[in-house]
Amino acid sequence: MSEQVWRHFNLCPNGDPEASIADAAMAVRDGAIAWVGAARDLPREFDAWPHHDLGGAWVTPSLVDCHTHLVFGGHRADEFALRLAGASYEEIARRGGGIVSTVRATRAADEASLLAAAAARLEPLIAEGVGAVEIKSGYGLELASERKMLRVARELARRYPVSVYTTFLGAHALPPEFAGRADAYIDEVCERMLPALADEGLVDAVDVFCERIGFTLAQSERVFEAAQRRGLPVKMHAEQLSLMGGTALAARYRALSADHLEFLDEAGVRAMKEAGTVAVLLPGAYYFIRETQLPPIESLRRHGVPIALATDCNPGTSPATSLLSMLNLGCTLFRLTVPEVLQGVTRHAALALGRGERHGELAPGRSADFVAWSVNSLAELAYWIGRPLAARVVRAGETVHTAPVSPWTGRAIDNRAASLERNRK
Ligand code: NIG
Ligand code: FE
Repeated sequence: MSEQVWRHFNLCPNGDPEASIADAAMAVRDGAIAWVGAARDLPREFDAWPHHDLGGAWVTPSLVDCHTHLVFGGHRADEFALRLAGASYEEIARRGGGIVSTVRATRAADEASLLAAAAARLEPLIAEGVGAVEIKSGYGLELASERKMLRVARELARRYPVSVYTTFLGAHALPPEFAGRADAYIDEVCERMLPALADEGLVDAVDVFCERIGFTLAQSERVFEAAQRRGLPVKMHAEQLSLMGGTALAARYRALSADHLEFLDEAGVRAMKEAGTVAVLLPGAYYFIRETQLPPIESLRRHGVPIALATDCNPGTSPATSLLSMLNLGCTLFRLTVPEVLQGVTRHAALALGRGERHGELAPGRSADFVAWSVNSLAELAYWIGRPLAARVVRAGETVHTAPVSPWTGRAIDNRAASLERNRK
């Protein structure tokens, strides 16, 4: 049996700074939290357990990246150059580039190289403090290649200290061999691909890209029905480039989340609220495709729809491997507040995965998955851009990552070091 007490830290247990506890303590037995609260209230029974001092760091639950397309072949830097020269995302997709070019690269890649490429994107996320990540298929668009993507996602979970939740996104784009036959492709998705992959235990949820360049409302609904027959929860890429009404449809199917949402209207917001659907905002994609239509933040707030943030890591619209950067973009581009973005990558992101009981909060009985941050205030998590801030990443009570050591000073690269030095004097 392993027993430990973590001490000397400030705790933000669920992403809400209001719930913070100064000078907290946490007792962990066999990877699970036995007790957590103010250090002065720590029950005597834990006094004999080995202690770890966190040096006054801020602690939050491990972060949750609830929307990624982390597994894919190749990249699209060439397309980025085209866009810089004036072509829009939608134009490139219509010309046969975009998603379909990644489909070619993903189909051509073998499982080992897909795994290596995805691992190289996952590692920076874990080092940054991400303890749970959603990974979508959707660049295979045929049974064997969708299976390959989802198997790679499952393999990542076996190799890395992170929870992976898989999403089948067969309805991401129309594969070239089905050109002009979108309904026939949806038959294939619903009748062959989804049942086979679900039977193999590769699917935790089902997603659809409901868009002019994706699938219609009627086609999206057929995918949702197929998911429902299998008892799988649904989510949707909705209202990203235009108002399709997909969000209201998703809400009718009690979707876990509706994602992107730049063109969402008030009726859609109300439907989300009633269904308990989380709004997953993706500021990386908004930024990268230079979108100007802002998601309806005020309306989401007014109706009390939980807001989550994610990287949307993908080669076309968000080549991002930093969730902390999304906090900064969420604040600067969407005018979200620091408490909103912190909850957006903890509690609300866990809800968007339907895993609110497992991730996004530190409480007795839960796995001790947390990050000790090298910051003096929580706002720093949203403030710095591209700065590694995780001093220690802990999963089930075990330290799985610590801040890298400087090759010049031999000390940990620590954002707080300077102020701590000052405090010591
Ligand atoms: O989340 N919108 C659709 N899917 C991705 C982009 C896919 C791609 O361009 O490769 C997104 O933005
Ligand atoms: Fe996406």
